[in-house]
Amino acid sequence: MGRIGGAGAHLVSRSDYEGTLAKGGTTITKGMDESSQKGHDIVDIGPLCPSDVDQARAVLARGMRDNPNHVAAFGDDPTARLAGLRAFLESYRSIPEREAFVARDATGRIVGVMAMMRPGECQLSSPHEARSLSGFYAKDPGAASRLKRWLDVWRKHDPQERHWHCGPFAVEAQVQRRGIGSGLLRVFCAQLDAGQENAYLETDVRQSVGFFERFGFEVMAEDRVLGATNWFLLRRPRAVRHRREEGTPT
Ligand SMILES: CC(C)(COP(=O)(O)OP(=O)(O)OC[C@H]1O[C@@H](n2cnc3c(N)ncnc32)[C@H](O)[C@@H]1OP(=O)(O)O)[C@@H](O)C(=O)NCCC(=O)NCCS
Repeated sequence: MGRIGGAGAHLVSRSDYEGTLAKGGTTITKGMDESSQKGHDIVDIGPLCPSDVDQARAVLARGMRDNPNHVAAFGDDPTARLAGLRAFLESYRSIPEREAFVARDATGRIVGVMAMMRPGECQLSSPHEARSLSGFYAKDPGAASRLKRWLDVWRKHDPQERHWHCGPFAVEAQVQRRGIGSGLLRVFCAQLDAGQENAYLETDVRQSVGFFERFGFEVMAEDRVLGATNWFLLRRPRAVRHRREEGTPT
C-alpha cells in the first residue's frame, strides 16, 4: 500500500489497491461482539476501487444521515435527509478527488469509508466551491445556502500547518460500534506516523471526540455550525507527541 509523506505524497493507487487485495488487505477481527459475527466477522481494509465510488457514497450517506450538521442542513425527515446528503456527496468533491480507505466485510461489501485530502488540497477557492456545489444549488437552494454557511465555518478553522484532511468518514449505519471505524483509523494513523504527517478532522458528534482522542487527535477548537456544536481536531505524528511529552525540543 502507498505511504503518506514526502514529495508527491499519496496514499493509495489503483496498483496498490490490486496489490492490497492480492495480499488480503488489513484484516480486523477484534472489536466485534457476538452479534457482529453474521457476515461482519472479517473486515478487510484497503483502498477504494474507482468502480466502487457510488457504493462508498451510499455507505457514507447512510452512516452520516443522523449527524447533527445533516439534520440542520437537510431537515428532520430522514428519507429527505438521506436523499439530500446523497445529492451533496455527488455534487461536492466528496470522493473522486480524495483518497479513500474502505472496509469490506467477508462478502466484499463496503461497510466503512474514510476519505481524505492530501496536504494543501482541502481549501477550495470560492469559484471552485461554487462550481462544485452548482448541481446541488439547482436541486435545493435552501439547503445549499445552509451548506455554504457550514463550509464557511469549517474553512475558518482549517489549520495553516501542513495536514492530511480526514473526512468524510463513516461506517454503515447498521454496523457501527463494532470496531470497523477503529480499524480504518488505525490504518490511517499508522500511515500518518510512518510519513510523519499531521491529520485534521471535524466532527459534530460529542461522543466521537473521545474516540478520536484515543487515536492521538487533540481538540483545537469548538464552534457552532447551523446551531450544532462542532469540534476541530488535529493529530500530530506519534513521534512528535512523544517528544513533546518528554519535553524534548522538536
Ligand atoms: C464515528 C464512526 C466512524 C466510528 O466508527 P465505528 O465503527 O462506529 O467505531 P468503533 O466501533 O470502532 O468505535 C466506536 C465506539 O464503539 C466502541 N466499540 C467498539 N467495538 C465495540 C463492540 N464490539 N461493542 C460495543 N462497542 C464497541 C468503541 O469502544 C467506541 O466507543 P466510544 O463510543 O466510547 O468511543 C461511526 O460511528 C460513524 O460512522 N458515525 C457517523 C458518522 C460520523 O460521525 N463520522 C465522524 C465524523 S468525522
